[in-house]
Amino acid sequence: MALTDFDLVLFGGSGDLSMRKLLPAMYARDVANDLPQTARIICVGRNDISQEEFLQTVDSTSKPHVKKLVEEGWAKFVKRIVYVSLNATDAATYPALVEALRNDDKITRVYYLATPPHLFAQICDNLAAAGLATANSRVVLEKPLGRDLESAKQINFEVGKVFAESQIYRIDHYLGKETVQNLLALRFGNILFEPLWRREWISDVQITIAEKIGVGNRMGYYDTSGALRDMLQNHLLQLLCIVAMEPPTSIAPDAVRDAKLQVLRSLKRFTPTTLAQNIVRGQYRAGHVDGKAVPSYRDEPDAPQQSRTETFVAMKAEIDTWRWAGVPFYLRTGKRMAGGLAEIVVRFKQIPHSIFNQPTSSFQPNSLVIRLQPDEGLSLNLMAKTPGDSMRLKQAELELDFREQFKTPRMDAYERLLLDVLRGQLTLFMRGDELEAAWEWVEPILDHWDQEDSVPIPYSAGTWGPAAASALIGRDGLQWREEALPED
Ligand code: BG6
Repeated sequence: MALTDFDLVLFGGSGDLSMRKLLPAMYARDVANDLPQTARIICVGRNDISQEEFLQTVDSTSKPHVKKLVEEGWAKFVKRIVYVSLNATDAATYPALVEALRNDDKITRVYYLATPPHLFAQICDNLAAAGLATANSRVVLEKPLGRDLESAKQINFEVGKVFAESQIYRIDHYLGKETVQNLLALRFGNILFEPLWRREWISDVQITIAEKIGVGNRMGYYDTSGALRDMLQNHLLQLLCIVAMEPPTSIAPDAVRDAKLQVLRSLKRFTPTTLAQNIVRGQYRAGHVDGKAVPSYRDEPDAPQQSRTETFVAMKAEIDTWRWAGVPFYLRTGKRMAGGLAEIVVRFKQIPHSIFNQPTSSFQPNSLVIRLQPDEGLSLNLMAKTPGDSMRLKQAELELDFREQFKTPRMDAYERLLLDVLRGQLTLFMRGDELEAAWEWVEPILDHWDQEDSVPIPYSAGTWGPAAASALIGRDGLQWREEALPED
């Protein structure tokens, strides 16, 4: 669907996200000829600098993040950029933005708030006061969308005073990843899986987002957040929702979001006792990642020496519905881990009886591995006969590599999501009630950690986290996937 002309306003326009992700994403869509000729990107920043100075910063800071750079295309792209110096919290400075925007209700306006969340309310108020919250406007909210239920409700309330829910785009960039959307295709575009997608046939589900990177220069944010808020409350729960939701009646935004909301509301609540048994939190210590020595979390620049912030969390969650009762969903994420990967593993039940000359226990249960990162693909593990004259069965893999299969150029998550905002397509964005339901579920965990005296369990950088995480799943007679894989 062709885009209508737009003014995209980036608050936090000179910040890290804009430079690293948003401008390169818009550039990529520009060279792909997706952007209308006169569409513009208005970068808003506090610095009182000229347009030329800002464009120099864009050249030195953003351009290196562009994947397939074509100088000519870049030169054309930067002509779309307009810099507006404005103090987001000072209403008196908004006339500069009024002046920069085109006053035509056929032109879509998008205000992308790539700013700390405590500024959201004030920016929305100031936009309204300046007469900029028009019917042709949309607002995009970047994470973190609050730090607990109360603050998330506050954001919803304050932004909701100015913009209708249909104008609000809450970003979770994991929903923009190709494989996440492919999971929808897999579940609802095929007859094969959905009949088996339930407690009768599935024994457990693992969802892992493991990163090799540490906290980098984000300590100020990260230490007040931790893995539960930074990754689990949003990305992992969104993946869980897509895996576990009931079939929506269509791909329409509210059909999908209603289905996800139902999952979030059905998650079994933790009590202090079940929480201690089912959640492991860790913090990395010095170690080696890819053979390179890396420091302990507490020795990273600006880290508080006694920090109790978790850089790893693993848990066993359950969904109280007829479809999923009794099926464990193991969720895990961490920084400075042995590998960088994001994947969902759906394990089916063991066959009930072996007709072959080998015991049932020698049959690996079927499993479907949905890989988001580093490569994108699906593998279905099946038992197959090994060649030869005896009837020996062994695990074999049916592999679908999306890159191999579809040669069409890929889109980065932000490219896809920005296009969706500009098209007015809300399906891949969280609704306000979803956000609150996710916080409502994680809040008891945060409260418990706040109150108790314990600290996260240390784990060496470059490992798969504390041994307690293996014990958590081991208690159910299972292993995390990479622990079960044969050594290379
Ligand atoms: C962000 C987190 O939301 O997701 C980061 O704040 C994390 O801490 C990042 O590194 C991971 O995203 P991706 O797309 O690189 O897996």
